[in-house]
Amino acid sequence: AYPKRVKVVEVGPRDGLQNEKNVVPTPVKISLINMLSETGLQVIEATSFVSPKWVPQMADHTEVMQGINKLPGISYPVLTPNLKGFQAAVAAGAKEVSIFGAASELFTKKNINCSIEESLERFEEVMRAAREASIPVRGYVSCVLGCPYEGKISAAKVAEVSKKMYSMGCYEISLGDTIGVGTPGSMREMLAAVMKEVPVGALAVHCHDTYGQALANILVALQMGVSVVDASVAGLGGCPYARGASGNVATEDLVYMLNGLGIHTGVDLQKLMDTGTFICNALNRKTNSKGAMAEQIL
Ligand code: HMG
Ligand code: MG
Repeated sequence: AYPKRVKVVEVGPRDGLQNEKNVVPTPVKISLINMLSETGLQVIEATSFVSPKWVPQMADHTEVMQGINKLPGISYPVLTPNLKGFQAAVAAGAKEVSIFGAASELFTKKNINCSIEESLERFEEVMRAAREASIPVRGYVSCVLGCPYEGKISAAKVAEVSKKMYSMGCYEISLGDTIGVGTPGSMREMLAAVMKEVPVGALAVHCHDTYGQALANILVALQMGVSVVDASVAGLGGCPYARGASGNVATEDLVYMLNGLGIHTGVDLQKLMDTGTFICNALNRKTNSKGAMAEQIL
């Protein structure tokens, strides 16, 4: 049985844009988020408070946070790798943050310049500060179905890191197939292991679509009871520290599939399509959404 409703977490403004080569003008980012806010999405990841030396594209995080219309009932979480990022995020008005770890040592080193163990210590500091400020924290675990540097990652390792981040107080753990190498079989095996340590109601899946497996993998996750799915409008994105990895599953295609299954999302597909058209025009790139391509032809 499928969940009756699914919470779609839109990550396009962050995961999508962070990988764009040319710096996207801040007003374009703000317009994108404002348009997404009108689609019925409940969660829109807005930006990240990471080092501008590491990810120059996100250097305007404060301007973005202060420039967007924050609608009631919508959460605008931001990535915060450490206490410095957390403090800057709160100063910019963030009401929710995400910490991001990984089930791979080498990826953790390349992405946030420390070991898994050190990353968890940094996250503890963020969790403490967040608790004091009553700020909810989401936790990402990357490389859950494979790593660009280590290759295969064991389900047991994913379960271990997920459990640690959940025990720390993250209200939700988003399991990232960072480079989109998973298949329904590996997704099922990984989820089965993680679900022994973290309640399924606190799990989300975050599928990049490099090998075209994202929707199939998401379907398996839904069948196993996962009801939170990350997606990126127009399928924008990738991780700057995972070369060759393509964008997330397109939000348009996810919502199309969920509509077909009769699963409620609250998202207006037409408005989402229009938002995808807007951002693709602004970036002068083609959409990665199959649904959006179909609409252009039909
Ligand atoms: P570091 O160089 O080890 O940090 O970077 P440091 O503590 O040694 O500090 C070095 C400099 O950075 C100092 O400045 C700090 O002040 C500054 P300097 O004295 O040289 O002028 N600094 C900061 N500046 C702004 N914001 C901060 C911050 N912290 C330190 N928060 C650090 C460590 C974590 C900062 C760095 O590695 C970094 O920013 N990494 C971010 C990488 C990133 O954003 N990756 C993409 C997001 S993850 C992802 O896409 C995966 C996901 O989508 C899920 C999936 O798909 O699997 C979430
Ligand atoms: Mg990602």
